[in-house]
Amino acid sequence: MELKEGNGEGIDSWKEVTLIYNAALKMIETKMEILNDEFQHVHRYNPIEHIKARIKTPESIVKKLKRDGHESTIDNMIKYINDIAGIRVICSFTSDIYRIADMISEQRDIRVIAVKDYITFPKASGYKSYHMIVTVPVYLSDRTVDTKVEIQIRTVAMDFWASLEHKIHYKFEGDAPEEIRIELVECAKMVADLDARMLKLNEEILAISGGRRD
Ligand code: GTP
Ligand code: MG
Repeated sequence: MELKEGNGEGIDSWKEVTLIYNAALKMIETKMEILNDEFQHVHRYNPIEHIKARIKTPESIVKKLKRDGHESTIDNMIKYINDIAGIRVICSFTSDIYRIADMISEQRDIRVIAVKDYITFPKASGYKSYHMIVTVPVYLSDRTVDTKVEIQIRTVAMDFWASLEHKIHYKFEGDAPEEIRIELVECAKMVADLDARMLKLNEEILAISGGRRD
């Protein structure tokens, strides 16, 4: 572990930091599960397909700090790395993404720090997803620590695309051949088209079945 400890009086050890980020991640994951359960109860419908949560490895934290020109200290990682705790929420339909994002934003103990809507404004690569950086209070025995969590919300189809694109990006170390990049952009368009058609189809089914969503 290369990270040096900072002079900060608050969080000063890697173990403690990991514990706090893990707690924050658990809290967000539980909040998502509660929203999903409540939705199932009220609307007989699950907006969330599944959830993936992870803590960034020390290696990638150090790599990112280096990339951004920061020294590898605990203080710097807390200050500059927004995705130490990361959660990915996979939904069926695009409309669910905004529904989940709104519901989580409205919770009293959640503070939204930043939002990137790569669904309305996809990346040049074709990447689509809704990103939020939020803080959630972690209650320790003697203090409360507002802790950052990165939330990525996307559809199953967007997730399928992003996984393959990530693999390709990794394989070619970020420099994939032109034809592959063009093909990926084409696939992203197909993903967007599929998402739009599935949403429409679902709405038609809902209209016929009189509001029952399953
Ligand atoms: P970092 O790139 O993590 O420093 O953050 P950023 O400030 O540029 O944030 P951004 O919201 O652009 O990206 C954060 C995360 O979203 C990444 O770590 C990936 O998990 C995901 N992501 C962003 N762009 C892409 C992309 O083009 N393809 C894939 N597969 N994932 C992406
Ligand atoms: Mg980036």
